[in-house]
Amino acid sequence: KSIDNLCFKSQSKHNTSSVAVKSEIAQRKDQTDTIAERKPFYVLQEERLEQAERSVLINCPPKTNEKKFLKHLSSHGEINTCFFYESFGTYALVEFSKKESIASLQEWTIIPSIQHEATVPFKSRLVSLKLNNPGDLSSVPSSIQCLRQSAIPINELVQRLSGADTIDQQLYTLTETYQLTEDNVRLRFLVCSLLKDIAAAYFPECTVKLFGSSVNGFGKLGCDLDMFLDLDGISGRKSKKTAGPFTLEYQMKRVSSERAATQKILSVIGECIDQFGPGCVGVQKILNARCPLVRFAHQPSGFQCDLTANNRIAIKSSELLYLYGSLDARVRALVFTVRCWARAHAITSSIPGAWITNFSLAMMVIFFLQKRDPPIIPTLDQLKGLAGPTDKQLIEGHDCTFVSNINRINTTENTETLEQLLKEFFEFYGNFSFSKMSINIRKGKEQSKPDVSPLHIQNPFEQPLNVSKNVNQTQLERFVSLARDSAWILQQDGMSHPLGAGAQPWGLAALLLPSASQTGGKGKKRRKREPASERIKSLLESLKNNKPNSANGNGKR
Ligand code: CTP
Ligand code: MG
Repeated sequence: KSIDNLCFKSQSKHNTSSVAVKSEIAQRKDQTDTIAERKPFYVLQEERLEQAERSVLINCPPKTNEKKFLKHLSSHGEINTCFFYESFGTYALVEFSKKESIASLQEWTIIPSIQHEATVPFKSRLVSLKLNNPGDLSSVPSSIQCLRQSAIPINELVQRLSGADTIDQQLYTLTETYQLTEDNVRLRFLVCSLLKDIAAAYFPECTVKLFGSSVNGFGKLGCDLDMFLDLDGISGRKSKKTAGPFTLEYQMKRVSSERAATQKILSVIGECIDQFGPGCVGVQKILNARCPLVRFAHQPSGFQCDLTANNRIAIKSSELLYLYGSLDARVRALVFTVRCWARAHAITSSIPGAWITNFSLAMMVIFFLQKRDPPIIPTLDQLKGLAGPTDKQLIEGHDCTFVSNINRINTTENTETLEQLLKEFFEFYGNFSFSKMSINIRKGKEQSKPDVSPLHIQNPFEQPLNVSKNVNQTQLERFVSLARDSAWILQQDGMSHPLGAGAQPWGLAALLLPSASQTGGKGKKRRKREPASERIKSLLESLKNNKPNSANGNGKR
């Protein structure tokens, strides 16, 4: 007896050898950074979403035989990619070559009949593989190789970095280790597409798009999934009145403002996610935030998800960051490194609060790289100057125009090493006049601060907004003090190269150690350790200033 006795239609139209080849390809962990391909951002997004629509997520028994599983599934059409991973069980992401295969698979998928319980019969592309004769599996060797979807712990990273030869190599190793993998990006777009199916029950013409670190090139394995429900593409918005004597108009509910409409839509979609969304748990509707959102965990993928609506400007800032990251390899390496350094020292946190966010750190790195001589990346105004007619975009009255074709941007003549840049980054922000100046990546120049917020980073598109409005003085001071300490550590003898087998972590590895701010290079005490009472006092201070759901409380816009 074989796994062919499953709850799908079993009808092999494809030979097993092609399936075997495909599965071998799928097994290879492809570390290639697909996000950094030189394709325009919107082209990549569309390709990925289309790929996701041809994909399903299948919960498999742990001992599934991969070959038989693929043979069984291929009865619905050719499989492009398949990989397995663990998240509250073993899952397979299966991407077919054609969308019709999904309809075929769904036609042969049954609705579970459960005793003493009932089901909400919402059919999604999240299915379970059930064995018709579970006993048969005992003879099947386990052959699934699960691919990791989370980042390695920091201590493992530190060890890996200690094995590098130069600081530059360390920064690139960190980037390669932490960046999203090809599989993880597929999974992200698939979850987005599953969400679209839920929202499409109300709004069949909607799209759900990804933004933030899932697509801006700076995402670390395990980062959250920022999604945006786009209803702008719904037909009829821009249609003109017909020429004859009559025009038909939809009767629609009216609400007081765009914000109120967004809140109502998200409230209903949030309810659908909560009540009918398979695998969606812990749904929270945070509708009074500056940018209303629905937050939930998607268990089958393991992603923490934020769904917003009417958030087109945030997509433009993701595109801008993607563009900067694609221009020069040093940009991504430095952003990944600074984010990792900040996380290692609890300067950033996964809990919303008065901490500096990853988005703010990326803006700070970009600003710093614009200020090098010669600059490594252009200012936003320069990118606007290079824009073509199709790049022109005005969103909610804000000019979001900048070039989308990377090939129009000249490469820099700056040849500084990452080692130099890392040191200079810490020096630059260790001495920056935060009390008077604001960081502005549109101009590539600091400007006088328009208000009293401790850290002011101008939003590149909504210029009156401060990206880091949530940050309090205590958190800014911690950042500055750690930047100074790190600059000092990197200046110590023996910090730029390995010290031999079994020696202390050096270079970037030394900067990531939790004790880096208290001890100098080679373990020498640099300054007296802050008494515990002082550290607790500073922590309490920062918690006191943390107002959840305030202006930027949820880190959105
Ligand atoms: N955003 C913004 N202004 C803010 C915060 C966020 O414009 N003050 C936008 C940015 O485009 C950001 C996106 O919302 O990329 C998602 O925010 P968030 O999840 O906080 O940041 P990420 O860049 O996704 O980084 P992380 O890996 O920490 O999730
Ligand atoms: Mg995010």
